[in-house]
Amino acid sequence: MGFANFFIFATLVTSALSAVVPINGGKYILETRVTLTGILSVKITAETLGWIGWGISPRGTMMGSDMVMGGFNGATGEAYIGDRYASHPGLPELDREQNVELVSASENATHTVLEFTRAVDTGDIDQDLTVENEVQFIVWAIGDTDDLVYHGVGSRGSIQLNLMDG
Ligand code: HEM
Ligand SMILES: *[C@@H]1O[C@H](CO)[C@@H](O)[C@H](O)[C@H]1NC(C)=O
Repeated sequence: MGFANFFIFATLVTSALSAVVPINGGKYILETRVTLTGILSVKITAETLGWIGWGISPRGTMMGSDMVMGGFNGATGEAYIGDRYASHPGLPELDREQNVELVSASENATHTVLEFTRAVDTGDIDQDLTVENEVQFIVWAIGDTDDLVYHGVGSRGSIQLNLMDG
């Protein structure tokens, strides 16, 4: 394989790269990708049949975080998602402007898989945070059921990640 071939191969691989981050001992697996057109894709595989939470956070805590809560309700057979904002450590309220697109949500006997997209910059300066090309706090949480109630201390946390690296 000549240099030219290698170069093309390397370019393709680079554009297909996406970050895979196992969190909480692999019980919450975060996969992300940002396209050149400014769309963030998020896929979460979590060991729960309840809700899945994800957010961009100013300090790694709930306060001021731009959150998404979603999942698959086995009782109704319906996927659900909401673009939310946490103004206090409690149920984050739904944003006045919904800027998250559900791609899919499903569950089996043990896991839920949730996929959604959003713009890197949604334009909602009140209740969304912009995906920056820098390390940001990402908060995560899962619920035991599809009722949007407290996650418990063992089922939430934060990591630091540059979403644009993925
Ligand atoms: C049903 C909605 C929710 C309720 C009622 C709730 C409630 C709470 C409460 C009472 C605390 C303080 C006790 C503790 O440390 O565990 C807390 C902490 C925390 N929660 Fe939530 N939460 C909710 C949703 C979420 C979501 C969706 C996320 C992430 C996407 C999240 C991430 C966190 C994190 C990282 C902490 C620890 C830092 C902090 O205290 O802010 N929570 N939550
Ligand atoms: C359930 O889904 C998870 C996540 O996709 C997968 O790892 C696991 O193998 C699945 N379990 C079964 C029994 O198919």
